[in-house]
Amino acid sequence: MRPNDYMLAARVPDSVQPQEVGALWVIERVAFKDPVAISLVGFPSQTVLRRWTEATIMRGGEIVMEDSARELRKHLPIWMVAYGRVLITGLGLGCVVRGLLAKPEVTHIDVVELDADIIRAIGPEFADNPRVTIHHADALEFPADFAEWNFAWHDIWCEGNSGLDLLHARLFGRFARSVMHQGAWAFPRWAARKLGWPLLGSPKFRRAA
Ligand SMILES: C[S@@+](CC[C@H](N)C(=O)[O-])C[C@H]1O[C@@H](n2cnc3c(N)ncnc32)[C@H](O)[C@@H]1O
Repeated sequence: MRPNDYMLAARVPDSVQPQEVGALWVIERVAFKDPVAISLVGFPSQTVLRRWTEATIMRGGEIVMEDSARELRKHLPIWMVAYGRVLITGLGLGCVVRGLLAKPEVTHIDVVELDADIIRAIGPEFADNPRVTIHHADALEFPADFAEWNFAWHDIWCEGNSGLDLLHARLFGRFARSVMHQGAWAFPRWAARKLGWPLLGSPKFRRAA
């Protein structure tokens, strides 16, 4: 499969309807006619997951996930290499899970998601899929010895993304013994170099792979 195939597979299906999700989350879908907007987003529509936060209450909440090409591209490091059993932290709109399901080499996906409302809104699509298990838990406390995984991809969230890279680094450490290869959304290259681990997407991983 090519990068575009994963991005298409990852898009949020119409079965996920725009809705308020619990008190704090909103799922919206916007369709575009303007060719400039379409070329910016990469698709004629976009689904967005927003979260109300104090800092963003006056401007409609914080965007936590969207299925634009720009955003989906950031998840290519896991889609391009994953096989076997994969650990995903952060379900969000389910895009990473959909992309992985498009790969027959991925045999099982464990998703750890903190928020019960997100699981209620996005989980049903995967409920009957024997290749997916959704765990309602905090990834920072989820037992690292629950299984052995070939890959892990971390994409959790905290308000304003402030300190998010540190949280992802804590997850790398937490799962280091039970996961062969790990990576995280937009993890800074300099930090990956400094940690010295061959993280997915880092030059060191590409050399080791
Ligand atoms: C950016 S979204 C993930 C988007 C996802 N990669 C996708 O493909 O749509 C972040 C998700 O992480 C969840 N989350 C935040 N903190 C978490 C934690 N400590 N443990 C597990 N999930 C967490 C949020 O509730 C949210 O669903």
